Amino acid sequence: VDFLRSLFSRTLGLSPGEKVLDELTLDGVARYILSGTCKNIICMVGAGISTSAGIPDFRSPGTGLYANLQKYNLPYPEAIFQIDYFKKHPEPFFALARELYPGQFKPTVCHYFMRMLKDKGLLTRCYSQNIDTLERVAGLEGEDLIEAHGTFHTSHCVSFLCRKEYSMDWMKSTVLNDEISLLNYSHFPFVDVFFLDIVFFGENLPARFFTTMKMDFPRCDLLIIMGTSLQVQPFASLVNRVSNSCPRLLINMEKTGQSEFGMGLFGFGGGMDFDSDKAYRDVAYLSTCDDGCMALAELLGWKAELEEMVKREHALIDSKDAKTKDKEANQSSRSTGAEAGKSDKTE
Ligand code: OAD
Repeated sequence: VDFLRSLFSRTLGLSPGEKVLDELTLDGVARYILSGTCKNIICMVGAGISTSAGIPDFRSPGTGLYANLQKYNLPYPEAIFQIDYFKKHPEPFFALARELYPGQFKPTVCHYFMRMLKDKGLLTRCYSQNIDTLERVAGLEGEDLIEAHGTFHTSHCVSFLCRKEYSMDWMKSTVLNDEISLLNYSHFPFVDVFFLDIVFFGENLPARFFTTMKMDFPRCDLLIIMGTSLQVQPFASLVNRVSNSCPRLLINMEKTGQSEFGMGLFGFGGGMDFDSDKAYRDVAYLSTCDDGCMALAELLGWKAELEEMVKREHALIDSKDAKTKDKEANQSSRSTGAEAGKSDKTE
């Protein structure tokens, strides 16, 4: 086996890298961050970081979205995000979009932990599969983010000649007020329609995903992977794009991204290796993303700051929501008053 390993390693360029962490634990990762040599952190995240905000993930048995789509009568669960199916039957997607539309959920501890990494100058970028925009709500900006599967944040006219951008507020009122059927997406490309910037199965990821990934991953000092089953490509294979020495921390309810085809058993890489006797850089912290981030924050001495940030930001969101509700209530009572005035006059 040793002979084969060294032969394959040399042939495939998969020889193991330097051991950077003094221990394959969360403590080891925290000591590495505190050492000052870890300057470029990339986060890779998925639906599991938003479940505590009230948004279901996709594949968790029982609670995941794919287990709860019976009412849409789909041929198979993933069809809801399949571009060919959507072009013929857009209604299920839009019904779901109405249920999950941003603005009804608050970012989680995990989202704010990433914001802290940004504020401390440690976040190279967050690669997200989520379309819920909670990273932005938590304070990450366009430059900090790759929304690999698109986002509800923007929408564009799908006509190549037009590409006009529509604001999230305008789109929101259209989606929530059930006016989406007016868009006549199924007649594309014969009518000038707009569309959400969401990547469906069967569509390309944004070009920026590919250009930025080539720049970011080779210089990454620590990859933190959170709340994802790492089952969808090409996103999942990003874990293999960091250098052989770069430590990878998974914070998730279950172990994911482990080596396929037994490659890990031979120590060849090709995925995460938490448990084999060749493991040297991958750490799995099995917990909720929020608990994992809070535990890491505590080891880094950032716990009070993180708790304070979550409290302050949530209070801000609550007060904005209250103001919006007041405004809406005032507008509707004014328009009811105007209607009553009109009917008084006609009487
Ligand atoms: P999945 O639903 O496949 O995986 C979510 C992962 O998060 C699972 O491993 C869960 O165990 C874990 N999890 C759930 N709640 C958690 C919590 N509170 N704390 C920690 N872990 C938790 O979601 P994704 O990996 O994001 O694509 O799915 C990837 C892509 O598949 C999505 O972007 C979507 C979907 O089809 C498109 O729509 C194109």
